[in-house]
Amino acid sequence: MLAIQYREHGGYDALRPVELPVPVPEHGQALVRITFTTVSPLDDTVRAGRMAPSLHKPLPIIPGGAAVGVVVEPGASGLAEGTRVAITGQGRGMTTDGTWREYVAEYAEALTPLPARVSDRRMAALSAGAGHATAYLALTELVGFRAGQSVLAPAIGGAVGMGAAQVAAQLGASTVISTAGGTAKAERARAAGFDNVIDLSRESLRDGVARLTDGRGVDVVLDGVAGPLLEGAVGSLAHGGSYVGIGYAGGTRGTLDVTDLIWKHARAIGYMFDMFSPEVTRAARQTLIDWLAEDRFDPVVARVFPLAQAARAQRHLMEDRPFGRVLLSTDDDNGGRL
Ligand SMILES: NC(=O)c1ccc[n+]([C@@H]2O[C@H](COP(=O)([O-])OP(=O)(O)OC[C@H]3O[C@@H](n4cnc5c(N)ncnc54)[C@H](OP(=O)(O)O)[C@@H]3O)[C@@H](O)[C@H]2O)c1
Repeated sequence: MLAIQYREHGGYDALRPVELPVPVPEHGQALVRITFTTVSPLDDTVRAGRMAPSLHKPLPIIPGGAAVGVVVEPGASGLAEGTRVAITGQGRGMTTDGTWREYVAEYAEALTPLPARVSDRRMAALSAGAGHATAYLALTELVGFRAGQSVLAPAIGGAVGMGAAQVAAQLGASTVISTAGGTAKAERARAAGFDNVIDLSRESLRDGVARLTDGRGVDVVLDGVAGPLLEGAVGSLAHGGSYVGIGYAGGTRGTLDVTDLIWKHARAIGYMFDMFSPEVTRAARQTLIDWLAEDRFDPVVARVFPLAQAARAQRHLMEDRPFGRVLLSTDDDNGGRL
């Protein structure tokens, strides 16, 4: 089978297409043919060697987190042949080999059957970067979000920003605010139905939030950018608000004015995908799949690359900062094997 692998840390070119044997399922595992797999900043962090070696498996490694596929050999998994499934779970492409390949052997716990109304591509878009699940768990489990509260989630084109905007709206947010690094992306976002997108090339984050909330600020910040936006994000909190640090697309370091926390009785808290029990994570995933089946929102796909072009896909996500998710396809119609 075609797979993507790297043998040493480095740039995008370290990602090499290789031919590997189709995995032989262990007892209880099903063999799944992957149709779409996903590209995320975490894959980039691991490949670039920016993660402590103790946190990932020894090289070589196959990258790739969540994916979508079809059961081709059910084994004793309890799933019928032909079942379309989402492949989820932690550590793929990090502590174990990931999903940038044509076949994977998985236990049933990692496989969620998909309703007919949810296409493989839409499920992959929901899963890529885990923005929707992250926002759902952060809002419902970490900050006790209530309908009627307001949310700021910077970077509407990113997985966390867009996922948060769509999930917060479903949970009854009064106002959902995001950002775009430039005017073209801000306009694209407004055309896609995201009303409150601050164009950071024209207005500061803090000024934009003040304008959109009549100076009150927001109850919750879900921040996947940090870096230069950190101070404005914390400074945009309303009295009693919560800042949730999720990621650092803009850099791990930034400044903040502690009086924005102290005087507002606000709090700052970190989010990691492994903070929750498997039951809580599974329930969140099922809710999101149900919402997708009901067409409650549309996770935008920016571009689908053939699996063999994974290096280009990763570069596109990191450097072009697209509006929407980046996927890899194994389907020959998309040139999966070139
Ligand atoms: N803790 C967790 O469990 C968890 C879960 C999910 C994600 N994350 C992390 O959260 C962060 C965001 O993830 P994501 O999937 O939303 O990322 P993404 O899809 O790649 O989007 C990141 C966005 O951030 C904006 N940005 C601002 N400054 C940037 C810079 N200097 N370089 C690159 N982008 C910049 C860009 O939008 P503009 O061009 O419009 O500014 C970009 O589109 C990542 O660090 C990711 O690893 C963590």
